Amino acid sequence: MDIEPLRYGIVGLGRAGVGIHLRQLKQRPDAEIVAVCDPLADRRQRIAEEVGALACDSLAALLARDEVEVVVVATPSHTHVADASAALAAGRHVVVEKPLALTLSEADELIRLARHSGRRLFVHQNYRFHKDFQHLRQVIDSGVLGPIFHVKFYAVRYARRNDWQTLIRYGGGNLNNKATHPLDQVLQLLGAPVASAFGDLQHIASAGDAEDHVKIVLRAENGITAELELSDAQALPFSYPKWIVCGHHGTLCSDGTTSTLRYYDPAQAPPLALEPDTAATVGFTVKEELPWRERTLNVDDAAGGNFYDNVADVLRRGGEMVVSPESVREMMRVLDLIRASAAPLAPVGSAGG
Ligand SMILES: NC(=O)c1ccc[n+]([C@@H]2O[C@H](COP(=O)([O-])OP(=O)(O)OC[C@H]3O[C@@H](n4cnc5c(N)ncnc54)[C@H](O)[C@@H]3O)[C@@H](O)[C@H]2O)c1
Repeated sequence: MDIEPLRYGIVGLGRAGVGIHLRQLKQRPDAEIVAVCDPLADRRQRIAEEVGALACDSLAALLARDEVEVVVVATPSHTHVADASAALAAGRHVVVEKPLALTLSEADELIRLARHSGRRLFVHQNYRFHKDFQHLRQVIDSGVLGPIFHVKFYAVRYARRNDWQTLIRYGGGNLNNKATHPLDQVLQLLGAPVASAFGDLQHIASAGDAEDHVKIVLRAENGITAELELSDAQALPFSYPKWIVCGHHGTLCSDGTTSTLRYYDPAQAPPLALEPDTAATVGFTVKEELPWRERTLNVDDAAGGNFYDNVADVLRRGGEMVVSPESVREMMRVLDLIRASAAPLAPVGSAGG
């Protein structure tokens, strides 16, 4: 069914604003980019000409244009709440980049404002639509691994940065800007609210003062645990799996492209009788052949999705929002817990900084 194109205004024309949002929106028949905004005059003029949009030098100028129906906020992370709030208050729907906010209380205020505005607040947690996440969900839901008890995510490299994302005052750091994708995915997989969280944030190799090494350990109310490590300060000579999902009778190991599943059907396993007699103990594990099966799956075979398909579906067809602000609120709560548990970052120039 053809729909009237949504009229978008994009605020912040950098890596995300152009490389992700503009690149996608300009190809969509259900989207029209009517205005773009950036403080850099050359950038906004060039991009406005490229897509036939109006160039605005401020968010206020963009919001003054009646034709803008949805505002995409792709500015540095410290301005998301103020920009999204201004757009909602001006009666616009909003797509806001992650992180939604820098604290839970800011997020709550923004979500409250969206509820009262009668407009929709979409958080660009686009990784929820990615195939490698949908693939994990499918494998877990299929039950072949048995009930899940632990999920692990690992993404490391040694790469020094020196842009605004290395500065706390701009909402920089790997926790806000990188961990918010896999953490959001992990929270969906846990299937229950987080009961406790431990975080370790360290500033190791990059310029600035924000963390470039993040370690997170979570336990959900249902007992499932998760561990995430995102670091720009680890030079490994081999690649560590991106995802490991541990079930009671099987494990998934994935590099994000290919997954290997090792599992067995517990109904086919020999009975396991307890031998509590300490004098009779001979070995460390039971000498048995479990009926292991191994499968290699192509992650790309999973059905993915698209963030902007959902925006159009919600705003033009009355569909259901996939990434509700309330679901992102849980991540904001967990981010607060992680920060509260982490030792303060060492001052720049100190032995640890
Ligand atoms: N979802 C994703 O996959 C993804 C990927 C990259 C970045 N991001 C997020 O997108 C946001 C932007 O990151 P980036 O890497 O694109 O940054 P960037 O520095 O590449 O771009 C930011 C742009 O915003 C402009 N800007 C700065 N202040 C502004 C203001 N007050 N009003 C309008 N424009 C302003 C800058 O001139 C620049 O063009 C961050 O919050 C980041 O976490 C998300």
